[in-house]
Formats: sequence, C-alpha cells, structure tokens
Amino acid sequence: MSTNKEAWGTRVGLILAMAGNAVGLGNFLRFPVQAVQNGGGAFIIPYFVCFLLMGIPLLLIEWSTGRFGGKFGNHSTPYILDTMAKGRLWKYIGVFGIFTNIAVAAYYCYIESWTISYVFHSLFGTFSGKSQAEVATFFTQYIDVMHSTTGIPFEAIVVYILCLALNTYILSRGLRGVENVAKIGMPLLIFFGIVLALRGLTLGTSGATELHPTANAWDGINFLWTPQFDSLTNPKVWLAAAGQIFFTLSVGMGTVHCYAAYLKTKDDIALNAVSAGFMNEFVEVVLGSMVVIPIAAGYLGLDWVKENAGFGMAFQTMPYLFQQWGSLFAVIAGVMWFGLLFFAGITSSLAMGTPWMGFMQDEFNWKREKSAYSFGLIVLLMGLPTVIFYQQGVFDEYDYWAGTVSLVVFALLETIVFAWIFGINRGWAEINAGADIRIPQFYKFVIKYITPLLLLFVFLGSLLTPLGNDWQAALSGLFSGNGWLLDNSSIIKQITNAALYEQLAAATDVAQIAALKSKIFFVNLARTFLILLFLGICVIVYIAYKKRVKEGRNTL
Ligand code: PHE
Repeated sequence: MSTNKEAWGTRVGLILAMAGNAVGLGNFLRFPVQAVQNGGGAFIIPYFVCFLLMGIPLLLIEWSTGRFGGKFGNHSTPYILDTMAKGRLWKYIGVFGIFTNIAVAAYYCYIESWTISYVFHSLFGTFSGKSQAEVATFFTQYIDVMHSTTGIPFEAIVVYILCLALNTYILSRGLRGVENVAKIGMPLLIFFGIVLALRGLTLGTSGATELHPTANAWDGINFLWTPQFDSLTNPKVWLAAAGQIFFTLSVGMGTVHCYAAYLKTKDDIALNAVSAGFMNEFVEVVLGSMVVIPIAAGYLGLDWVKENAGFGMAFQTMPYLFQQWGSLFAVIAGVMWFGLLFFAGITSSLAMGTPWMGFMQDEFNWKREKSAYSFGLIVLLMGLPTVIFYQQGVFDEYDYWAGTVSLVVFALLETIVFAWIFGINRGWAEINAGADIRIPQFYKFVIKYITPLLLLFVFLGSLLTPLGNDWQAALSGLFSGNGWLLDNSSIIKQITNAALYEQLAAATDVAQIAALKSKIFFVNLARTFLILLFLGICVIVYIAYKKRVKEGRNTL
C-alpha cells in the first residue's frame, strides 16, 4: 500500500493551489492571442459555451475521479483509471496523465524562465531608452541561445536550469510547498493584474502618436467584447475555443486528478471545482483580456494588434510600451507584468510535477525528495532540446502534441470511462458526495451525452480539418464525390509533415532547402523524444503492475 499520506492543509490553500494550477501563462499569453486570431467577439460565445459544456463537466469529472482514486491510495491517473474501470489497458490510457505533464513542463518552464529574466531586465533598466525594434530584437537574441548577448553567457539555458531547480526544490517540500507558493503567488498575481488592467482601461486615446494617430485602447476591449454571432457555425472557431478551455483549465492533463486525490473522502468537490474554475475564468477573461490587447491597441492601434498577435507580443512589445509611462513606472510595470506571469507560470508548473511524484511515491515508495529530483531531471532532459533548438521548432512540436492533441484524446477517453464504464449514476453520486452546493441535475445529462459528443467532435474536427478550414466546401465536396480534402493543419497531415514536404518540393534556394530539411529533422527528433517519454512511462506502469501482482495488491 502507498505510504503517500500527504493531504492539503486548508481549504483556502487547496482552492488557491487548484486555481494556481489552472491560472497560468495560458490566461495571459494564449487567451488574448486565440481571441484576436479568431475574430475577437466572434470567439467569446463558443468559448463560454465550451466552458459550460466541456470545462465545468471535465472539472467535475476530474475532481471526483481524483478523490475516488485517492481513497485507494492512487494519486495519478494510471491507477486511478485502473480502479474505476475493469480491463488491463486503462492504466496505459492513464499514462497520458503523467506524460502530458512532463512534456508540457519541459517547454512551459522555458517560458516561465523568460519571465524571471525579464523581471530582472526590467528592474535593471535593460529596456530603458530602447526603440520598439530594439526591444523586439532583444527577445530574438535572447532565444538565440548560442549567440545571445543579452546578459550572462547562455542566459536562456542558465535561467531555464535555475527555474527548473526552483520548481524541483519547492516540489521536494511537498504539498505544503505548493500550497504556500499559491498562497503568496495568487493574491499578488491578482493584484498586479488589476493594476495593469486598470491601466489598460484608462489608457483610452492618450497613447496615440503621429505614427499611430488612431490608436485607442478601447478598440481592443470592444473588439473582444462585442459578440458576433456569425462565428457560431464556424468549426474552426469552436476548435480554437475548446482548445483554449482545455489548456487554461488544465483539464485533460492529469494534474487536477492528482490534486484532488489528496482530498479527504468527505471533502466537498462540487463547490471547490466550480470556484476554482470560475476563478480561472475571472483571471482569464477579465484580467487576461485587459492588459496586452488594450495596451498594445492603445499605442499601436488595433490593426497592428491583429496583424502581430502572437505570444511574443508580451515579451517583444510590452517592455517597450511600458517605457512610455516614464522611467519609474516602466520599471514598476515591467516587474508587475513579468512578476505576474512568473507567479501564473510557477503555480502551474508545480502542478505538472505532482502526477509523476504521486506515481513514484505510490508505486515504488519513493521519498518526496527523490520523486521531485527525478521529475526535475527528466524535465531537464526533455526540455533542453526545446531551449537549444527553439527556433528549429522543437518547442512548437511539444506544444502541439502534448499541449494540444493529448489533452483532447485523454479528456475524451476519461469522460467515456467516467460516464459509460464507471457509470454515470456512480459518477454522479461521487460528484455529489459531500457537496456543499447542488449541481443542477441537467449536468448529469450533459456529462453523459453532451460532453463526450463535443469532445468527439473536437477530436474528429482536429483530426480531419478540411482544406482551408472551409467546412462548407468540404461537405459539398464530399457529397459531390470529390472526397474530403485535408488541410495541412489537420492532425493527419501534421503526422506526415505534409506542409513541410510541400514547402520542400517548392523550394529552389539551396539555403532554404537546407533549412527545411533541418526543420524536418528537428520535428522528427522532437517526436522521437515524446514517443520515448510516453513508452518509458508505459514501461514504468507495467513494472508497477508486475509489482502489484507480486505483492497481491493488484486491483484486477
Ligand atoms: N492551465 C495552465 C495555463 O493556463 C497550463 C497547465 C497545463 C497547468 C498543464 C497545469 C497542467 O497556463
């Protein structure tokens, strides 16, 4: 039996830790970009529908699944699923719940490490007096690890390792460590967020210059908050909205299960899950939408924002814009902004460490410290390629497979286990046991039918995205016998590297051909790492299974 007897200290600590798990870089870097790229107000309705019909149900499923597993001393998804469903294979589905976390942590901690560097660079005035182009170049140099001249030699690698070491150290202090960071980090983050959002709200047209005479911060806010109903029939927007909901709520990852496994059997989950979920949404749609977009629109105009939306904006543009507020406020705003991102990041990356740790503690009686250090080491090995070969696309490859596709696959499978194998009646009873609020009865129906169907739609939609994302043309093509033409962004075409090979075929320039070949090489290398990681965890789960059988504590 597991000797892992950790538990959360207080309810406030638990909610803050869970909210900290969800509130992350996704809220401030990914959400605004997704919203802008998908038509602003056109994005918001599908986004909220996905929150209510997929986000909340998945939170309820994962919290209750986790608490259920915890009762039997299982703190990570392989054996949580194993306790819920008969059949030898489910535990290997549960491998996703460890794999995703390690792979996401590998590149997520890299962005987190940028925020640390940027806090210091803001503090020491690195950006002061720099033009917009110079601030942007600073970033490009920073990520050009081998030739970087931004500060200490190999700064990006050094700070990445420090950032991992910090995460590992806090993890080695156990749940109490995680809880303490959340108790400090979350309030500070919200405070910084409110200050910066107020700035975004009050900027108005005061940032307009000769270069951008029509710049207006309100354009940014209105763009996001004027609902447009025409998007409702566009699957592309729905897929983006669903993807954002997954990422931001940390569902489909295995972290929520793990945190919930440390609850006590009688603890509430309904109110906790809903509170942590809404807290994340507040931070995302209120604070996350009122900083980068309005401030950038306020100085550079909405059109600039639409053309340049990307997560680099936060690092390439914000430090320059802060300079417009005078040298003292530039420092304060820079420290607040990157400090906010850092707290958002670390409370999430800590969460990513816990499923692996829980597993090793449960199955092999590893000590907390040993499980934390081993997590740090694996993430370092997986992460260094994302740092060193960032420009070659290793980072994006991890983000696509582990941070996007895996989530949907795992969420779909776990919903089926919960609603159809474990059974919705038992599942519903689990959700309501010890509940401090009543979840409306129709959620039982939603969890059984709507959520899995939506997940299936999201999965198939991503697998088979039609050419040009034009669903109408694809459907009429199908009925007129022309077949279904796939877009290069569909999962199937991604697997075959179709886009890269097309570019290669069209390339004439020697340098370009070489660059494309190297890109293909690195994309395949990244995938090899990911596959090895997945298989490696499968092997460990198998060893744990054998050990359980030998000790006579196998659940089957
Ligand atoms: N939800 C986090 C964010 O918004 C990301 C995350 C992924 C957290 C996986 C935990 C686990 O950034």
